[in-house]
Amino acid sequence: MKNIAIFASGTGSNARKIVEHFRKNETIKVALIISNKATAKVLDMAKDNNITTLIINRTDFYKSTSLLEDLKKRQIDFIALAGFLWLIPAYLVKAFPNKMINIHPALLPKYGGKGMYGHHVHEAVFKNKESESGITLHYVNEHYDEGHIIFQAACPIASTDTPIDIARNVLALEHYYFPRILMSLLNNE
Ligand code: GRF
Repeated sequence: MKNIAIFASGTGSNARKIVEHFRKNETIKVALIISNKATAKVLDMAKDNNITTLIINRTDFYKSTSLLEDLKKRQIDFIALAGFLWLIPAYLVKAFPNKMINIHPALLPKYGGKGMYGHHVHEAVFKNKESESGITLHYVNEHYDEGHIIFQAACPIASTDTPIDIARNVLALEHYYFPRILMSLLNNE
């Protein structure tokens, strides 16, 4: 059995897709959902699915390595960041070499880095009159959005599209590809 931990701070629509994708899988399981926000909707989804949750605080996350103990206790093999905004500290990157991935709602290396999240990304893409946007799945290192790129998928932007349209089309790509790419990585380990 391979156990995934999902780190998410928001709505958790990607986390939900991942949970649904692996629900009947006999060798891969979402075993833990971690959030830095006690009120995050993703935690309700976790509870509805009987998945253990863990709320982390900034001080422990950056000033200790106690999270590693929790991950070890749950026998976590792989980490998926799905809308988790904190920079990942070095001790965690080192403990999960090529075993931690993030999804970014744009075609990196464009539109990445600190502050480039959520609607900020889609508004920047819109302002620059890009003809396409998309998603990037990449390994996580100590820098925002800079780890090795695993997979990208693009969607066209029509001249009439608003940032909201772009966001919707990008999210649809995320929901489709994130669970599938995760599965292929885990199956090929
Ligand atoms: C997604 O757009 C993801 O790319 C980004 O944060 C958003 C999370 O959305 N990193 P949700 O919480 O999964 O709905």
